[in-house]
Amino acid sequence: MKSLSIFSFIFALLSVIMGATVRITGSGLGCPDWPLCHGRLIPPADFYAWIEWLHRFTVLFSTVFVSILCIKGFLFNRKLVFLLPVTLIVVQIFLGALTVITEIHPIIAVLHTVVAVLYLGIIAHLGSGFVFAKKSPLDSEENLMLRLSLAGILFSVITGSVVARSGSSYASDEIPLVTLFAFGSDLVYFQLIQAIHRIIAYLTFILLLVLSYKLIRKSDLKLFGILISFVATFQICLGLLNIYTGFTDLVRVGHIIVAFIIASTLSSLFTITEQ
Ligand code: HEM
Repeated sequence: MKSLSIFSFIFALLSVIMGATVRITGSGLGCPDWPLCHGRLIPPADFYAWIEWLHRFTVLFSTVFVSILCIKGFLFNRKLVFLLPVTLIVVQIFLGALTVITEIHPIIAVLHTVVAVLYLGIIAHLGSGFVFAKKSPLDSEENLMLRLSLAGILFSVITGSVVARSGSSYASDEIPLVTLFAFGSDLVYFQLIQAIHRIIAYLTFILLLVLSYKLIRKSDLKLFGILISFVATFQICLGLLNIYTGFTDLVRVGHIIVAFIIASTLSSLFTITEQ
């Protein structure tokens, strides 16, 4: 089960990385049909078709590994939670097809990103039980910090995806905060969407720093504490760099991937400290 959990997580993360690359490179319609690509199993020599195809390819592998993990996990533990990733795969494939059919409708695209972070989080949560040894339990305050941080990351992902899909990315080039225009100006609503994302992100960052400070003081959770404080700081820097660099592809893809890595790390922490 250990190697199956690791492969499931790696391919699920790869499918998210390819998904982010599809979005950033504008390859969402690289394959205008589904499930074939330009009527073929292997796409023609076209950059956008290959990016979209590689996304589908990593999704296929992650689906196979995760389905085996869930069936074995369910037979092993008899816990219904093991059926959740398979359910999310079905929802995600349906949303993926709808994204093509609706030519990337913003609401479908936001839902697709949100289900992706839930999917990766639950795989990290379930797989960690087979990969890592149990660590010392968290006290009630640390537990609260962990749950609030998880909620904060989820809302940062939702609001970030709304920023990207609503065309609010360019609404303000100020950092670290957004100065809102007067209400009634066309831009103020886009600015507000971005301001909400940043405020939720900064509050989540503070939570993550407090949580990692508490973890660093525990000998068997020190590494988790250092990792969380490092990736959280890096994510804030990527958000600021997004604005500062005018949205280079690498920073945009990095910003999405690090958000998913934070969510997975917190989900794993949840499992290994659960008693
Ligand atoms: C905990 C910290 C943060 C998390 C988890 C986070 C997460 C995300 C996610 C998941 C997206 C959506 C990407 C997509 O669907 O394409 C996003 C977009 C965005 N975020 Fe953040 N973010 C954080 C902090 C910040 C900060 C501090 C800033 C700015 C100062 C920022 C600015 C943006 C912008 C401008 C976008 C739109 C990017 C685009 O159009 O590609 N974020 N964020």
